[in-house]
Amino acid sequence: MKDNKNVVEQTLAIIKPDGIKNAIKIIEMIYNEGLKIEKYEVRMLDEEILKEHYAHIVDKPFYPKLENYMLSSEVVLMILEGVNAVDKLRNLMGPTDSTKAQKGTIRGEFGTDITYNAIHGSDSKENAEIEINRFFRQKQKRI
Ligand code: CMP
Repeated sequence: MKDNKNVVEQTLAIIKPDGIKNAIKIIEMIYNEGLKIEKYEVRMLDEEILKEHYAHIVDKPFYPKLENYMLSSEVVLMILEGVNAVDKLRNLMGPTDSTKAQKGTIRGEFGTDITYNAIHGSDSKENAEIEINRFFRQKQKRI
């Protein structure tokens, strides 16, 4: 029988522009959850990579606001590793809408609303692989 529990895996986290000022506290929360940073980079994103990352919502009316927000400062890109990393990070983040996130979650502590929500985390193992490739390896290939 296939058992997906207790599998060491990787996920992608992005501390968004509104989360930067609390990055140390967010990283502390991530470590306390048993996840470790395998690789990280602090950098500005650009329109091209955002349109790719947000391809599923690029036509939504809120997209221009989302893009402006994500371009408003540098972000912290992190490959996180640990047992059930995808689910652990998602639980720690709380729901997309920060106003609905419980205290003790990253969005509950540091997010403001549904747009300004402090952090992104991959929503599945498959997307984690795609997103890690997008933000880390693809860049190396372009050189
Ligand atoms: P995230 O889930 O990391 O990736 C998609 C982002 O789009 C989401 O975080 C929010 O920042 C933003 N978003 C999602 N839904 C809405 C919405 N209804 N209105 C505004 N922003 C949204």
